Amino acid sequence: MDTAVNPATLAAAIPKAELHIHIEGSLEPELIFALAQRNGVKLAYPDVQALREAYAFTNLQSFLDIYYAGASVLLHEADFHDMAWAYFLRAKADNVAHTEIFFDPQTHTARGVPMASVVRGLASACERAHGELGISSALILCFLRHLSEQDALDTLEAALPLREHFIGVGLDSSEVGHPPSKFSRVFARCRELGLRVVAHAGEEGPPEYIWEALDDLKAERIDHGVRSLEDPALVAELARRRTPLTVCPLSNLKLCVVKDLADHPMKRLLDAGLCATVNSDDPAYFGGYLNANFVRTVQALDLSREDVITLARNSFEASFVSDTRRQELMALLEAATG
Ligand code: HPA
Ligand code: ZN
Repeated sequence: MDTAVNPATLAAAIPKAELHIHIEGSLEPELIFALAQRNGVKLAYPDVQALREAYAFTNLQSFLDIYYAGASVLLHEADFHDMAWAYFLRAKADNVAHTEIFFDPQTHTARGVPMASVVRGLASACERAHGELGISSALILCFLRHLSEQDALDTLEAALPLREHFIGVGLDSSEVGHPPSKFSRVFARCRELGLRVVAHAGEEGPPEYIWEALDDLKAERIDHGVRSLEDPALVAELARRRTPLTVCPLSNLKLCVVKDLADHPMKRLLDAGLCATVNSDDPAYFGGYLNANFVRTVQALDLSREDVITLARNSFEASFVSDTRRQELMALLEAATG
């Protein structure tokens, strides 16, 4: 690509991997209302506009309350398929070549939705995206950390008959008061089963939670991790291990983790030599999909062409693809950047 192209335009145009997207967080208000009507579910908001106006969050919990309410319209396998397909179409428009998608089964099984409906609906959308859009993808099952470790163990057991459809596990929901060490046993079991392991840590929680995710859970990636910068020894360890951070700038802005995108730590993370990546987290709620996250971060922090290429390369390095697919993705990036 022409080296005169500005870094934000370049960021939007190049192939990238998205590694931190909660599929329930891709449910747009229009689809929430369409599914509510299809399934006869009553919502607490009269229309799309009223729901969208409620998206004024002050912290993680204020978002999670609305996010779980939105997910209540998902009942059948086709609903999960339709939600994921809508995300894949947006991902294609943003030049996402590979994506690793979080899902929260406990949000659905607690309402009586069978685990198989959740997993099969998502998995069929992943297959379709590969065939029709050329996007490779994988599913990562997240445990809700505000629930007990026993509930996570039971969820894992319920998902094991569908083991072929997901590659790993993660940890999400309300962070403060629910440290990674609460889930040491279930993560040990997951590792024994050959599942990849990641965990949200250091979004609102302290650097100690990131240490626990690394040392107790043996997390291979840290989701968010922006508070790592408060602990220089932790930054040095993340750099030494080359543990990727899946950072979500517009999420951090909407949930008041940062006051202004100009204060966002992304540039400091890159300058510290960490394998930081850009991701959308819950794009329907936070004001933008992957390219919006890239473009607004590049503009707010005046990131360079080299920073942009590093971020795209990091996304492929951090992904759980085969070596062959990683080489293919790196070659696509190379061809797009010259
Ligand atoms: N943090 C924790 N849990 C979540 C998030 C998040 O950003 N999005 C969906 N569940
Ligand atoms: Zn997240």
